[in-house]
Amino acid sequence: MAELDDIINRRRSSRMFLPDKAVPADALNEALTLAMRAPSNSNVQPWRVFLAVGERRDRLAAAMVAAARAEPPKAMGLPESFSARRRELGALVYGSMGVARDDADGRWTAQLRNFEFFRAPVAGIVCMHRDLGMADAVGVGMFLQTLLLALTERGIDSCVQVSTALYPDIVREHLGIPDELRVLCGVCIGYADPNFAANHLAVPRNPLAQNVEILDD
Ligand SMILES: Cc1cc2nc3c(=O)[nH]c(=O)nc-3n(C[C@H](O)[C@H](O)[C@H](O)COP(=O)(O)O)c2cc1C
Repeated sequence: MAELDDIINRRRSSRMFLPDKAVPADALNEALTLAMRAPSNSNVQPWRVFLAVGERRDRLAAAMVAAARAEPPKAMGLPESFSARRRELGALVYGSMGVARDDADGRWTAQLRNFEFFRAPVAGIVCMHRDLGMADAVGVGMFLQTLLLALTERGIDSCVQVSTALYPDIVREHLGIPDELRVLCGVCIGYADPNFAANHLAVPRNPLAQNVEILDD
């Protein structure tokens, strides 16, 4: 139990990877196989994952960066009542990268790294069938968290990214993703660059009672 607690606490989103440090195929396979144990509604196992490595990954990343440069992405919609959270996280992450709030160029450079999968050697795209709904998206989340923890256990770092879903047509074209699948998010997998300060960030969480109510009356 203590080991699992430690793995949960150790997992964090890395935003700069060592591009030349490959992820061993065995370790990746083990983590993916463990993630397949995730629960899902009616056991439909709704996750469909495409992992690009080597030249395929490089072509995809190059196309994404070119698209982002040509037409900067619009931030994913977030209701106003939640957008303060995005600003707080931005201040934390960009601050740890040494990018000031008014440094538009610095922010853009950092943002662009999303589209090169933060240089991770494994660029993943996570999809789900169009006809499935919210309960099934919960199942995809369960798969993803199990995968991230199994990777963490093996000393492999990761970052889930919704930004990659901002260019679904490019992702479809480069990975041959069929129309019936909806592109949900990306996942970067590799070894975090230890010299990149933002990789050591521990993003805080709410006090438990803010999110969870135990009702016993
Ligand atoms: C569905 C999802 C989408 C995310 N999208 C991005 C993204 O596009 N870019 C990014 O840098 N981080 C992204 N993240 C990482 C979150 O910012 C991160 O999980 C959160 O701030 C908590 O930090 P931690 O993972 O280090 O604990 C995403 C995470 C999730 C689960």
